[in-house]
Amino acid sequence: MRFPNVRVFEGPQELARAAANTFAEEATQSIREKGRFAVTLAGGSTPKALYELLAAEYVNALDWSRVHAFFGDERCVPPDHEDSNYRMAQEALLSRVPVGSVHRMRGELSPPEAATLYEEELAAFFDDRPDFDLVLLGIGGDGHTASLFPHTPALEVRDRWTVENPVEKLGTERLTLTVPVINGAQGIIFLVTGESKSNALKEILEGDADPREYPAKLIHPFGKLTWMIDRGAASLLYQRLSGKKV
Ligand code: 6PG
Repeated sequence: MRFPNVRVFEGPQELARAAANTFAEEATQSIREKGRFAVTLAGGSTPKALYELLAAEYVNALDWSRVHAFFGDERCVPPDHEDSNYRMAQEALLSRVPVGSVHRMRGELSPPEAATLYEEELAAFFDDRPDFDLVLLGIGGDGHTASLFPHTPALEVRDRWTVENPVEKLGTERLTLTVPVINGAQGIIFLVTGESKSNALKEILEGDADPREYPAKLIHPFGKLTWMIDRGAASLLYQRLSGKKV
């Protein structure tokens, strides 16, 4: 059974395989049509399997020299820190394929400075406003996406592309693309695995809670939106709607 734009996979490996195929298809089409593929990478742990699969099996599947890698958010740490989204993506993928360019958020700088620098980098790459060809996102168990956490200032920002976002419950600041920039993308794919995300996913896809509670609800892209989820993450969805055990 398929929900609109929701694709359910047996587990994380099957999801990573399907996501790698979709990535390669989207990249090839964008490169054919525009001569480039500007993709925003997600952080956290979920996309790592996808990145590793792309590096291991898709080196010849697309023209990586036309792929330009950006980040949806970053932790305020240096690029070699274990919490760095850049480091994860660099080790799993970007150092293993001949990618055209990599645009990382400078987590080692003061957050306001890093946010402004990233906006300048976006302005230098994109003629007008950032229109990513594909944005990869995850969600947290609290419904956050990128570093757009519940009840944080960045949720309300409409006149910036990148901001520093103080996240009280983490006791730190994060760097994140803003909602309008993410929603300006040609395509967005959410990658979600594990039962720990099932409550938030049910709320995001079916619930009527305020989006400030579940910020992933603020994501309604200009282009195509796809949810690639595994059975664990989908577990509450199915029970609620079909009453059938997944
Ligand atoms: C980050 C991410 C964040 C992530 C979710 C899910 O920097 O943490 O960009 O939005 O996608 O927190 O993280 P996991 O994939 O580790 O569950």
